Amino acid sequence: MKEISTGRQCILRSCGSSKVTSKDLTCLRVDGYQECLHCQYTHPSFSVYYPPTFYTIFNHKNFSQHVADPSKRSDGLFLYFFPNCTLNVYGGGMSSFRMCPTENPGITRMEFDYYHLETGDKFEDYFKFVRQVAMEDFELCEKAQDNLQNGIYTEGILNSVKETGVAFYQRRVLDLVVAQHADEQRTSRVQITSAGAMQNELVEPAGA
Ligand SMILES: [Fe+2]
Repeated sequence: MKEISTGRQCILRSCGSSKVTSKDLTCLRVDGYQECLHCQYTHPSFSVYYPPTFYTIFNHKNFSQHVADPSKRSDGLFLYFFPNCTLNVYGGGMSSFRMCPTENPGITRMEFDYYHLETGDKFEDYFKFVRQVAMEDFELCEKAQDNLQNGIYTEGILNSVKETGVAFYQRRVLDLVVAQHADEQRTSRVQITSAGAMQNELVEPAGA
């Protein structure tokens, strides 16, 4: 992990921003966000306030809604917007981050923004709490990427209740890839047909 810039600026009442590069695939990052089975062992401080007992996920057309406790919807809300953006309301503040592919497929650029109604110690406490969660995810994703590259971890069966967010994301990507492939095949056929028609036009007069 390499932190390339960190800055603080006031957009609402207080805000922190940073951009960080991470040695993993962007799709692995999204997979990690789209499930919370890892939360209890990866985020011990987070799990104290947001235990996985009532964790629920709702998948919509272009976004997923993760809720720590459906009876308290104003706290512990995590939104994923396809393909690479999130909005997170927990710990007393709000954060958003984007998972950006780079020219190197093994490197993802993470862009974070943090918002809070308070300044000073209250903001710093919030920032420390959510930043800790982010750093724990960094370590998890980079280790998972290493294991994928080394053949230690290959694939597994998704939990049909707790990992529907991962299935939703992967299905959206698959649908778009298949649609793009079909579109390219169509375009390719049109180009071949056009080229063939042009060749016939050139050949026919010579044979007449
Ligand atoms: Fe996490």
